[in-house]
Amino acid sequence: MSENSVTLRGGVTMPLLGFGTWQLTGRKAYDATRAALSAGYRHIDTATMYGNEAEIGRAIRDSGIPREDIFVTTKIQADRSGRERETIQASLRALGVDYVDLWLIHWPPRRGLPAMWREVVAARDAGLARTVGVSNFSPSQIDELDEAPVLNQIPWSPFDYDATVKAAMEERGVVLEGYSPFKRSDLRHPVLAGVADAHGVTPAQVILRWHIEHGTVVIPKSVTPERITANLDVYSFALTPAEVTIIDGLGT
Ligand SMILES: NC(=O)c1ccc[n+]([C@@H]2O[C@H](COP(=O)([O-])OP(=O)(O)OC[C@H]3O[C@@H](n4cnc5c(N)ncnc54)[C@H](OP(=O)(O)O)[C@@H]3O)[C@@H](O)[C@H]2O)c1
Repeated sequence: MSENSVTLRGGVTMPLLGFGTWQLTGRKAYDATRAALSAGYRHIDTATMYGNEAEIGRAIRDSGIPREDIFVTTKIQADRSGRERETIQASLRALGVDYVDLWLIHWPPRRGLPAMWREVVAARDAGLARTVGVSNFSPSQIDELDEAPVLNQIPWSPFDYDATVKAAMEERGVVLEGYSPFKRSDLRHPVLAGVADAHGVTPAQVILRWHIEHGTVVIPKSVTPERITANLDVYSFALTPAEVTIIDGLGT
């Protein structure tokens, strides 16, 4: 594993830092994704529910970057249970791609989880997704699945840090992907401000770097070009183990 990527069970490698696109629609989704790709992001997170797959697909094509160089995640909503194959086919059509890199069940369905998961795995086996995972799942919901997902995308920030959750994912061979790294944080917290000052970076960059130090995937969203660039610039500094431990403490 290089510093900026993680290899999922089964061998698919993904960049640890990706671009989040929730609440970006229409022109904003297109422009922000184009800006992210030109800034250097090679991992985009979307979902059927976000209603922006077509704009993201267009941004990817217009970027001129080869499809295989961009890691694309999309998600199926729980209420599409029973219509898994048509849902991924619609996502692929909207994105204008032959496969996604990662397909996630967005939220656990109230009923029929094992059957839904079997269909998701079957779509992977049919070559429509390179690998498959889940989102917003508890460890016990993961244990209901006959084949463990490669990854679980959950709310995660220094203020959510819980060593038990992290260990539960590790024990199952499930990579933790965190969402809403900023929305769930107090960007003015003195601990983050102190670490940021020590490295001449911003508290937002400290949060993203903290995910990287833990090997956690993180997908910050921004429509602001300067923030899009700054959020990717987290490889020119590193946190010390002591700083990581202090930041972990914000979660307790
Ligand atoms: N699986 C799920 O259920 C789920 C749920 C939520 C999110 N997600 C995914 O995770 C992604 C990220 O989460 P999110 O969109 O909820 O929130 P987020 O990335 O934590 O925060 C986005 C907010 O932070 C601001 N921001 C961005 N960069 C900043 C910086 N450097 N300094 C200060 N503020 C900054 C953005 O403002 P501007 O845009 O105005 O710059 C925006 O208001 C989503 O886009 C989506 O892809 C998944």
